[in-house]
Amino acid sequence: TWSAVPAGPPDPILGVTEAFKADKDSRKINLGVGAYRDEHGKPYVLTSVKKAEQILTASNPDKEYLPITGLPEFTKAAAKLAYGSESVPLQEGSIAVTQSISGTGALRIGGAFLARHYPHSKVIYLPVPSWGNHTPIFRDSGLEVRGYRYFDKKTVGLDFEGLKADLKAAPEQSIVLLHACAHNPTGVDPTPEQWAQISDIVKEKKLFPFFDMAYQGFASGSTTRDAFAVRHFVSQGHQVALAQSFAKNMGLYGERVGAFSLTTSDAAERARVDSQLKIVIRPMYSNPPLHGARIASTILGNQELYAEWEGEVKAMADRIIGMREKLYNTLTSDLKTPGEWGHIKSQIGMFSFTGLSPPQTKALAEKAHVYMTADGRISMAGLNSGNIEYFAQSVDAAVRG
Ligand code: LMR
Repeated sequence: TWSAVPAGPPDPILGVTEAFKADKDSRKINLGVGAYRDEHGKPYVLTSVKKAEQILTASNPDKEYLPITGLPEFTKAAAKLAYGSESVPLQEGSIAVTQSISGTGALRIGGAFLARHYPHSKVIYLPVPSWGNHTPIFRDSGLEVRGYRYFDKKTVGLDFEGLKADLKAAPEQSIVLLHACAHNPTGVDPTPEQWAQISDIVKEKKLFPFFDMAYQGFASGSTTRDAFAVRHFVSQGHQVALAQSFAKNMGLYGERVGAFSLTTSDAAERARVDSQLKIVIRPMYSNPPLHGARIASTILGNQELYAEWEGEVKAMADRIIGMREKLYNTLTSDLKTPGEWGHIKSQIGMFSFTGLSPPQTKALAEKAHVYMTADGRISMAGLNSGNIEYFAQSVDAAVRG
């Protein structure tokens, strides 16, 4: 029956983890998937998460189904975290929000909802490059995927002129996907002034902004500062779609905690949108998992735990910044590695877009047991004081060929 099914390629990101696991060399390093590691290279469960779990266990909760759109305490708190308590649509009760299977699930719900109900266009513009999963998510949702310029290889920074030109040239009312902060894979974000200009173009062209906020807190260490773009757009009167993930900022990767929301015109419209979100979700997976949403809502709803969590997000972000400094210094001062490496320090969030070529990344995996995505993206969180020298030496060797 399946003899005509061709073998598919490994996933560009998760396939790297598979290759890493199969490597038996003790020096191996995985800088592929964006998952935080502590200074010993170990997965990190946040103390605030452990405390929330203790509170939950003590409350002896049941295992009943959640509603289709998830745990109401969680979705309320998630919307507040993203939009801010001062947000007008939040106060007016006009934000339609549902729990999702982390950020990917949020994007998929959003894609499916827009494909079915957005009346003006079936075209979504993604930054070039974007997270590798964006294209298949939106294509499989029934949207046509196109690109807008984002990254300038020459300056290793934002191609702001290209971005503006491409958004201005897009057909009116197209959907545009924006990374709210800590752009994945490049680590390059627009400045607040540039966001304001993007907002103006989006308004002028009546584009529909769809934010992906998978790293709130990871760009600046502050969840409030990282929500700037979303809050600015809302304050400018845009209706937005938003995908949120709690994988990175709460370290809840495998718990799959996220939210999808849409700002609507008023509470009555919100109720209609809510009803259609349920109709999109029910045949996909019926209703979302309980545990992670309970953890997140316990943290977000408890002042002490919230403060502790914010400190932990900042500590994760700071450790990554420290690794950027160290890597930059080792490559430039110690090893005098050919090339310009300033972007390692200036890029933000979990990733650095190193500029290493596909042959160089291949050589790094084969010769040095150092794994990263083929586009040269490294997860800075995979580096620590125990492996950074070896990593820098391996990069140096790969660059010198
Ligand atoms: C990544 O880009 O590495 C993360 O968003 C994890 C994933 O699912 O790809």
